Amino acid sequence: TIHPVILSGGSGSRLWPLSRAGYPKQFLNLGDNENTMLQATAMRVSGEAFSNPVMVCNEEHRFIVAEQLRLAGIEPSQIVLEPVGRNTAPAVAIAALSLLEQNEDAVMLVMPSDHVIRNQSAFLAAVEKAAQAAKSGKLVTFGIEPTAPETGYGYIQKGATLPEVDGAHQVARFVEKPDSDTASAYLESGEYYWNSGIFVFTAKNYLEELKGHHPEMLSACEKALKLSKQDLNFCRLDHDAFMASPSDSIDYAVMEKTANAAVVPVDMQWSDLGAWSALWDIEEKDEFGNGVHGDVLLHNTRNSYVHADHALVAVSGVDDVIVVATDDAVLVVNRNNAQDVKQVVERLKADG
Ligand code: GDD
Ligand code: MG
Repeated sequence: TIHPVILSGGSGSRLWPLSRAGYPKQFLNLGDNENTMLQATAMRVSGEAFSNPVMVCNEEHRFIVAEQLRLAGIEPSQIVLEPVGRNTAPAVAIAALSLLEQNEDAVMLVMPSDHVIRNQSAFLAAVEKAAQAAKSGKLVTFGIEPTAPETGYGYIQKGATLPEVDGAHQVARFVEKPDSDTASAYLESGEYYWNSGIFVFTAKNYLEELKGHHPEMLSACEKALKLSKQDLNFCRLDHDAFMASPSDSIDYAVMEKTANAAVVPVDMQWSDLGAWSALWDIEEKDEFGNGVHGDVLLHNTRNSYVHADHALVAVSGVDDVIVVATDDAVLVVNRNNAQDVKQVVERLKADG
Protein backbone atom coordinates (compact mmCIF):
# COMPACT_ATOMS: atom_id res chain seq x y z
CA THR A 1 0.00 0.00 0.00
CA ILE A 2 0.99 3.59 -0.72
CA HIS A 3 0.82 6.20 2.04
CA PRO A 4 -0.61 9.52 0.85
CA VAL A 5 0.75 12.63 2.55
CA ILE A 6 -1.28 15.76 1.89
CA LEU A 7 0.37 19.12 2.43
CA SER A 8 -1.95 21.99 3.12
CA GLY A 9 0.12 24.51 5.00
CA GLY A 10 0.52 27.05 2.22
CA SER A 11 -1.02 30.47 2.34
CA GLY A 12 -1.94 30.71 -1.36
CA SER A 13 -1.04 34.39 -1.46
CA ARG A 14 -1.04 34.64 -5.25
CA LEU A 15 -4.80 34.11 -5.21
CA TRP A 16 -5.40 37.12 -3.00
CA PRO A 17 -7.97 38.59 -2.36
CA LEU A 18 -9.99 35.39 -2.54
CA SER A 19 -7.40 33.32 -0.70
CA ARG A 20 -6.64 34.72 2.76
CA ALA A 21 -4.20 33.74 5.50
CA GLY A 22 -7.04 32.48 7.69
CA TYR A 23 -8.73 30.64 4.83
CA PRO A 24 -6.26 29.81 2.05
CA LYS A 25 -7.20 28.59 -1.38
CA GLN A 26 -6.90 24.84 -0.69
CA PHE A 27 -10.01 25.14 1.48
CA LEU A 28 -11.99 26.85 -1.28
CA ASN A 29 -14.01 25.40 -4.04
CA LEU A 30 -12.20 26.72 -7.10
CA GLY A 31 -11.63 24.08 -9.71
CA ASP A 32 -14.38 21.61 -8.97
CA ASN A 33 -18.08 22.05 -8.52
CA GLU A 34 -18.75 20.12 -5.36
CA ASN A 35 -15.54 19.78 -3.41
CA THR A 36 -12.88 22.05 -2.09
CA MET A 37 -9.40 21.42 -3.46
CA LEU A 38 -8.38 19.71 -0.23
CA GLN A 39 -11.36 17.36 -0.42
CA ALA A 40 -10.74 16.61 -4.09
CA THR A 41 -7.10 15.79 -3.27
CA ALA A 42 -8.01 13.39 -0.46
CA MET A 43 -10.67 11.70 -2.58
CA ARG A 44 -8.18 11.22 -5.41
CA VAL A 45 -6.18 8.88 -3.16
CA SER A 46 -9.01 7.12 -1.37
CA GLY A 47 -8.93 3.93 -3.47
CA GLU A 48 -7.72 0.47 -2.50
CA ALA A 49 -4.11 1.09 -3.41
CA PHE A 50 -3.80 3.68 -0.64
CA SER A 51 -3.85 3.78 3.11
CA ASN A 52 -5.52 6.63 5.02
CA PRO A 53 -3.78 9.94 4.37
CA VAL A 54 -1.39 11.75 6.66
CA MET A 55 -2.32 15.43 6.66
CA VAL A 56 0.24 18.11 7.44
CA CYS A 57 -1.16 21.58 8.02
CA ASN A 58 -0.87 24.69 10.12
CA GLU A 59 -2.30 24.52 13.62
CA GLU A 60 -4.55 27.45 12.80
CA HIS A 61 -6.38 25.39 10.16
CA ARG A 62 -6.92 22.20 12.15
CA PHE A 63 -10.69 22.44 12.36
CA ILE A 64 -11.11 23.36 8.70
CA VAL A 65 -9.06 20.31 7.69
CA ALA A 66 -10.81 17.91 10.09
CA GLU A 67 -14.25 19.15 9.10
CA GLN A 68 -13.63 19.12 5.36
CA LEU A 69 -12.33 15.55 5.53
CA ARG A 70 -15.28 14.45 7.63
CA LEU A 71 -17.69 15.93 5.09
CA ALA A 72 -15.87 14.11 2.30
CA GLY A 73 -16.06 10.81 4.19
CA ILE A 74 -12.27 10.54 4.53
CA GLU A 75 -10.66 9.21 7.68
CA PRO A 76 -7.15 10.64 8.09
CA SER A 77 -4.55 8.39 9.67
CA GLN A 78 -3.07 11.44 11.34
CA ILE A 79 -3.35 15.24 11.22
CA VAL A 80 0.03 16.76 11.98
CA LEU A 81 -0.11 20.36 13.17
CA GLU A 82 2.72 22.75 12.48
CA PRO A 83 2.96 25.59 15.00
CA VAL A 84 4.62 27.67 12.28
CA GLY A 85 5.18 27.15 8.56
CA ARG A 86 8.65 25.86 7.72
CA ASN A 87 7.85 25.15 4.07
CA THR A 88 7.54 21.73 2.47
CA ALA A 89 10.89 20.01 3.17
CA PRO A 90 10.33 19.84 6.96
CA ALA A 91 6.62 19.04 6.49
CA VAL A 92 7.55 16.01 4.37
CA ALA A 93 10.28 15.05 6.84
CA ILE A 94 7.79 14.92 9.71
CA ALA A 95 5.43 12.73 7.68
CA ALA A 96 8.32 10.45 6.69
CA LEU A 97 9.54 10.08 10.27
CA SER A 98 6.07 9.25 11.49
CA LEU A 99 5.46 6.69 8.71
CA LEU A 100 8.82 5.08 9.30
CA GLU A 101 7.79 4.31 12.89
CA GLN A 102 4.98 2.12 11.52
CA ASN A 103 6.67 0.59 8.51
CA GLU A 104 10.31 0.77 7.56
CA ASP A 105 9.59 0.27 3.87
CA ALA A 106 6.75 2.80 3.72
CA VAL A 107 6.27 4.31 0.24
CA MET A 108 4.85 7.80 0.43
CA LEU A 109 2.94 9.83 -2.13
CA VAL A 110 3.37 13.51 -1.31
CA MET A 111 0.65 15.73 -2.68
CA PRO A 112 -0.08 19.43 -2.59
CA SER A 113 -3.67 20.15 -1.67
CA ASP A 114 -4.30 22.80 -4.26
CA HIS A 115 -4.15 21.19 -7.69
CA VAL A 116 -6.69 20.14 -10.23
CA ILE A 117 -6.21 16.74 -11.90
CA ARG A 118 -8.92 15.94 -14.39
CA ASN A 119 -7.66 12.57 -15.64
CA GLN A 120 -7.77 10.32 -12.59
CA SER A 121 -6.85 7.09 -14.39
CA ALA A 122 -3.73 8.65 -15.91
CA PHE A 123 -2.81 9.87 -12.44
CA LEU A 124 -3.25 6.43 -10.87
CA ALA A 125 -1.27 4.69 -13.60
CA ALA A 126 1.59 7.16 -13.13
CA VAL A 127 1.56 6.71 -9.35
CA GLU A 128 1.83 2.96 -9.78
CA LYS A 129 4.90 3.35 -12.01
CA ALA A 130 6.39 5.85 -9.61
CA ALA A 131 5.92 3.46 -6.69
CA GLN A 132 7.92 0.80 -8.57
CA ALA A 133 10.72 3.29 -9.19
CA ALA A 134 10.57 4.41 -5.55
CA LYS A 135 11.04 0.82 -4.39
CA SER A 136 14.20 0.68 -6.47
CA GLY A 137 15.56 3.66 -4.58
CA LYS A 138 14.39 6.66 -6.60
CA LEU A 139 12.85 9.96 -5.55
CA VAL A 140 10.18 10.23 -8.18
CA THR A 141 8.66 13.34 -9.71
CA PHE A 142 5.85 13.62 -12.27
CA GLY A 143 6.66 15.51 -15.45
CA ILE A 144 4.07 17.75 -17.08
CA GLU A 145 4.53 18.84 -20.71
CA PRO A 146 5.21 22.58 -20.43
CA THR A 147 3.15 25.02 -22.46
CA ALA A 148 4.63 28.37 -21.41
CA PRO A 149 7.83 29.73 -19.83
CA GLU A 150 6.22 29.82 -16.38
CA THR A 151 8.59 30.92 -13.64
CA GLY A 152 6.49 29.56 -10.78
CA TYR A 153 7.36 25.92 -11.45
CA GLY A 154 10.26 23.54 -11.11
CA TYR A 155 11.80 22.32 -14.38
CA ILE A 156 12.95 18.74 -14.88
CA GLN A 157 15.43 17.78 -17.57
CA LYS A 158 14.78 14.27 -18.79
CA GLY A 159 17.75 11.89 -18.63
CA ALA A 160 18.29 8.28 -19.70
CA THR A 161 15.46 5.79 -19.41
CA LEU A 162 15.19 3.90 -16.18
CA PRO A 163 15.74 0.24 -17.06
CA GLU A 164 13.69 -1.11 -14.15
CA VAL A 165 10.49 0.87 -14.87
CA ASP A 166 8.96 1.21 -18.30
CA GLY A 167 8.33 4.87 -19.20
CA ALA A 168 10.32 6.34 -16.31
CA HIS A 169 13.48 8.40 -16.76
CA GLN A 170 16.36 9.55 -14.67
CA VAL A 171 16.37 13.25 -13.93
CA ALA A 172 19.37 14.90 -15.57
CA ARG A 173 18.71 18.19 -13.79
CA PHE A 174 16.08 19.71 -11.57
CA VAL A 175 15.82 23.50 -11.46
CA GLU A 176 13.31 25.13 -9.16
CA LYS A 177 11.65 28.36 -10.34
CA PRO A 178 14.15 29.52 -12.99
CA ASP A 179 14.13 33.12 -14.15
CA SER A 180 12.12 33.93 -17.20
CA ASP A 181 14.98 33.76 -19.77
CA THR A 182 16.07 30.39 -18.43
CA ALA A 183 12.49 29.12 -18.46
CA SER A 184 12.12 30.21 -22.11
CA ALA A 185 15.34 28.43 -23.05
CA TYR A 186 14.15 25.25 -21.29
CA LEU A 187 10.82 25.41 -23.07
CA GLU A 188 12.51 25.82 -26.45
CA SER A 189 14.95 22.96 -25.87
CA GLY A 190 12.08 20.49 -25.62
CA GLU A 191 14.06 18.53 -23.01
CA TYR A 192 12.27 19.76 -19.92
CA TYR A 193 9.10 19.01 -18.06
CA TRP A 194 7.36 21.05 -15.42
CA ASN A 195 7.49 19.52 -12.00
CA SER A 196 3.94 18.73 -10.88
CA GLY A 197 4.83 19.13 -7.21
CA ILE A 198 3.73 15.54 -6.46
CA PHE A 199 6.41 13.12 -5.30
CA VAL A 200 6.80 9.41 -4.56
CA PHE A 201 9.64 7.90 -2.51
CA THR A 202 10.21 5.68 0.47
CA ALA A 203 10.26 7.46 3.80
CA LYS A 204 13.70 5.98 4.35
CA ASN A 205 15.18 7.36 1.12
CA TYR A 206 13.80 10.84 1.68
CA LEU A 207 15.25 10.97 5.19
CA GLU A 208 18.53 9.62 3.91
CA GLU A 209 18.75 12.50 1.39
CA LEU A 210 17.83 15.03 4.04
CA LYS A 211 20.51 13.67 6.31
CA GLY A 212 23.04 14.18 3.52
CA HIS A 213 21.97 17.65 2.41
CA HIS A 214 20.34 19.23 5.49
CA PRO A 215 21.22 17.32 8.65
CA GLU A 216 20.19 20.29 10.83
CA MET A 217 16.70 20.19 9.32
CA LEU A 218 16.41 16.47 9.95
CA SER A 219 17.45 16.75 13.57
CA ALA A 220 15.05 19.65 14.23
CA CYS A 221 12.20 17.60 12.75
CA GLU A 222 13.15 14.49 14.74
CA LYS A 223 13.08 16.54 17.90
CA ALA A 224 9.79 18.29 17.03
CA LEU A 225 8.13 14.91 16.50
CA LYS A 226 9.68 13.30 19.55
CA LEU A 227 8.40 16.12 21.77
CA SER A 228 5.02 16.30 20.03
CA LYS A 229 1.75 15.91 21.90
CA GLN A 230 -1.12 13.77 20.70
CA ASP A 231 -4.39 15.63 21.09
CA LEU A 232 -7.37 13.58 19.81
CA ASN A 233 -6.47 12.86 16.18
CA PHE A 234 -4.07 15.81 16.07
CA CYS A 235 -0.33 15.50 16.46
CA ARG A 236 0.97 18.82 17.78
CA LEU A 237 4.62 19.33 16.93
CA ASP A 238 6.82 20.91 19.54
CA HIS A 239 6.91 24.63 18.92
CA ASP A 240 10.51 25.44 19.79
CA ALA A 241 12.00 22.39 18.14
CA PHE A 242 10.10 22.94 14.89
CA MET A 243 10.88 26.69 14.93
CA ALA A 244 14.55 25.74 15.01
CA SER A 245 14.28 23.97 11.64
CA PRO A 246 15.47 25.92 8.61
CA SER A 247 12.63 26.85 6.29
CA ASP A 248 12.97 25.46 2.77
CA SER A 249 10.96 23.72 0.09
CA ILE A 250 11.50 20.09 -0.86
CA ASP A 251 12.37 21.31 -4.35
CA TYR A 252 15.36 23.40 -3.28
CA ALA A 253 16.35 21.35 -0.25
CA VAL A 254 16.24 17.88 -1.82
CA MET A 255 15.13 17.62 -5.45
CA GLU A 256 17.73 20.03 -6.83
CA LYS A 257 20.46 18.24 -4.93
CA THR A 258 19.74 14.52 -5.08
CA ALA A 259 21.47 12.24 -7.57
CA ASN A 260 18.61 9.75 -7.30
CA ALA A 261 15.71 11.59 -8.88
CA ALA A 262 13.49 10.00 -11.51
CA VAL A 263 10.62 11.39 -13.55
CA VAL A 264 7.45 9.74 -14.78
CA PRO A 265 5.97 11.87 -17.58
CA VAL A 266 2.20 12.06 -17.33
CA ASP A 267 -0.62 13.72 -19.20
CA MET A 268 -3.33 13.93 -16.55
CA GLN A 269 -4.92 17.31 -17.31
CA TRP A 270 -3.10 18.79 -14.38
CA SER A 271 -3.36 22.36 -13.31
CA ASP A 272 -1.75 24.16 -10.42
CA LEU A 273 -4.23 26.81 -9.45
CA GLY A 274 -1.29 28.78 -8.16
CA ALA A 275 -2.14 32.15 -9.62
CA TRP A 276 -5.12 33.88 -11.21
CA SER A 277 -3.67 33.24 -14.66
CA ALA A 278 -4.11 29.50 -14.02
CA LEU A 279 -7.78 30.03 -13.23
CA TRP A 280 -8.16 31.84 -16.51
CA ASP A 281 -6.44 28.84 -18.16
CA ILE A 282 -8.94 26.28 -16.92
CA GLU A 283 -12.05 28.45 -17.12
CA GLU A 284 -14.39 28.03 -20.07
CA LYS A 285 -13.97 31.07 -22.26
CA ASP A 286 -16.24 33.13 -24.48
CA GLU A 287 -15.42 33.82 -28.15
CA PHE A 288 -13.05 36.63 -27.11
CA GLY A 289 -11.05 34.46 -24.73
CA ASN A 290 -12.61 35.86 -21.56
CA GLY A 291 -13.36 33.79 -18.48
CA VAL A 292 -15.83 35.15 -15.95
CA HIS A 293 -17.19 34.21 -12.55
CA GLY A 294 -20.21 35.92 -11.06
CA ASP A 295 -22.04 39.04 -12.13
CA VAL A 296 -19.81 40.46 -14.84
CA LEU A 297 -20.34 42.70 -17.86
CA LEU A 298 -17.63 42.83 -20.52
CA HIS A 299 -17.37 45.22 -23.40
CA ASN A 300 -14.59 45.33 -25.95
CA THR A 301 -12.38 43.18 -23.74
CA ARG A 302 -10.25 40.19 -24.66
CA ASN A 303 -8.32 37.36 -22.98
CA SER A 304 -9.27 38.48 -19.52
CA TYR A 305 -10.49 36.91 -16.31
CA VAL A 306 -13.04 38.70 -14.16
CA HIS A 307 -14.23 37.35 -10.84
CA ALA A 308 -17.08 39.10 -9.04
CA ASP A 309 -18.13 37.74 -5.66
CA HIS A 310 -20.98 40.09 -4.85
CA ALA A 311 -21.02 43.40 -6.66
CA LEU A 312 -21.46 43.72 -10.42
CA VAL A 313 -18.14 44.24 -12.20
CA ALA A 314 -18.01 45.89 -15.63
CA VAL A 315 -14.85 45.98 -17.74
CA SER A 316 -14.47 47.83 -20.99
CA GLY A 317 -11.70 48.44 -23.50
CA VAL A 318 -8.86 46.50 -21.85
CA ASP A 319 -7.22 43.21 -22.82
CA ASP A 320 -5.27 40.64 -20.81
CA VAL A 321 -6.49 41.90 -17.49
CA ILE A 322 -7.42 40.07 -14.32
CA VAL A 323 -10.02 41.68 -12.07
CA VAL A 324 -11.07 40.08 -8.80
CA ALA A 325 -13.61 41.80 -6.61
CA THR A 326 -14.51 40.35 -3.21
CA ASP A 327 -16.34 41.82 -0.20
CA ASP A 328 -13.49 43.93 1.01
CA ALA A 329 -10.86 44.14 -1.72
CA VAL A 330 -10.41 44.61 -5.46
CA LEU A 331 -7.42 43.34 -7.44
CA VAL A 332 -6.54 44.51 -10.95
CA VAL A 333 -3.46 42.92 -12.52
CA ASN A 334 -2.10 42.25 -15.98
CA ARG A 335 -2.70 38.59 -16.82
CA ASN A 336 0.99 38.19 -17.65
CA ASN A 337 2.08 39.46 -14.23
CA ALA A 338 -0.23 37.32 -12.15
CA GLN A 339 2.69 35.87 -10.16
CA ASP A 340 3.39 39.36 -8.77
CA VAL A 341 0.30 39.27 -6.59
CA LYS A 342 2.54 37.50 -4.09
CA GLN A 343 4.64 40.68 -3.77
CA VAL A 344 1.51 42.76 -3.43
CA VAL A 345 0.42 40.62 -0.49
CA GLU A 346 3.90 40.87 1.04
CA ARG A 347 3.64 44.66 0.85
CA LEU A 348 0.19 44.59 2.42
CA LYS A 349 1.61 42.53 5.28
CA ALA A 350 4.59 44.86 5.69
CA ASP A 351 2.37 47.94 5.72
CA GLY A 352 0.11 46.27 8.29
N1 GDD B 1 2.23 21.49 5.69
C1 GDD B 1 2.75 22.46 4.98
N2 GDD B 1 3.63 23.32 5.55
N3 GDD B 1 2.40 22.58 3.69
C2 GDD B 1 2.94 23.58 2.97
C3 GDD B 1 3.85 24.51 3.51
C4 GDD B 1 4.21 24.36 4.89
O1 GDD B 1 4.99 25.13 5.47
N4 GDD B 1 4.19 25.38 2.53
C5 GDD B 1 3.51 25.00 1.43
N5 GDD B 1 2.74 23.93 1.69
C6 GDD B 1 1.85 23.21 0.79
C7 GDD B 1 0.96 24.13 -0.03
O2 GDD B 1 -0.30 24.28 0.60
C8 GDD B 1 0.85 23.38 -1.33
O3 GDD B 1 -0.22 22.46 -1.26
C9 GDD B 1 2.14 22.59 -1.44
O4 GDD B 1 2.67 22.52 -0.12
C10 GDD B 1 3.19 23.20 -2.39
O5 GDD B 1 3.57 24.47 -1.92
P1 GDD B 1 3.52 25.75 -2.86
O6 GDD B 1 3.95 26.91 -2.04
O7 GDD B 1 2.21 25.83 -3.56
O8 GDD B 1 4.68 25.41 -3.90
P2 GDD B 1 4.85 26.05 -5.34
O9 GDD B 1 3.57 25.99 -6.10
O10 GDD B 1 5.49 27.38 -5.21
O11 GDD B 1 5.92 25.06 -6.05
C11 GDD B 1 5.78 23.65 -6.02
O12 GDD B 1 4.74 23.20 -6.85
C12 GDD B 1 4.92 23.46 -8.28
C13 GDD B 1 3.75 22.88 -9.04
O13 GDD B 1 2.57 23.35 -8.56
C14 GDD B 1 7.13 23.07 -6.48
O14 GDD B 1 7.12 21.67 -6.21
C15 GDD B 1 7.39 23.33 -7.96
O15 GDD B 1 8.57 22.67 -8.37
C16 GDD B 1 6.22 22.81 -8.77
O16 GDD B 1 6.42 23.08 -10.16
MG1 MG C 1 1.62 25.72 -5.57
